[in-house]
Amino acid sequence: MSIRRFASTAMLLLATACEAEEPAALRVAGGDPARGHAVILASGCGACHVIPGVRGADSWVGPPLTEWARRGYVGGRLPNAPDNLIAWLRDPEAISPGSAMPAVGLSEAEARDAAAYLFTLGAARLPPVPAGMQLGPNEGGPRESPRIRPRA
Ligand code: HEC
Repeated sequence: MSIRRFASTAMLLLATACEAEEPAALRVAGGDPARGHAVILASGCGACHVIPGVRGADSWVGPPLTEWARRGYVGGRLPNAPDNLIAWLRDPEAISPGSAMPAVGLSEAEARDAAAYLFTLGAARLPPVPAGMQLGPNEGGPRESPRIRPRA
């Protein structure tokens, strides 16, 4: 095998490995999507949002939460990273004064689980943050150095 051929095979393998890892990188640390699904159902989020996979969540009062993992921003204010979404779910008005979304009284753990569920939506299709944007502290697993999503 020529060195060129070897290099391109190695790149391909690397790219495949990165793609396969994508869902893990999207995981909300400490959050459980199945519990989050139950939290979302019990909290009545579906009275205001379209949320794929959640029974009865077909309202257009607020924006649809389809393909959540692909969103760039939370409430048009903060980059869409797990910690920012958790903060939003606990107290939207603290992030966007005058927001029409009420705080529904989620605990930190409940908001974390709900965020974990939302981040499963659309996760398979695209990176959640644009290439080069800094990842949140809980993205990409526990590491100390700041992480930047690599360019595709
Ligand atoms: C009474 C209606 C209502 C309820 C209940 C509600 N929301 Fe919202 N939500 C809204 C509205 C309206 C907005 C848009 C607010 C804004 O952008 O300031 C919003 C925004 C959001 C956003 C940001 C959307 C975006 O495009 O950036 C997320 C995420 C979200 N809601 C999740 C939830 C979850 C999860 C629940 C349940 C725990 C919930 N919401 C309950 C009305 C509601």
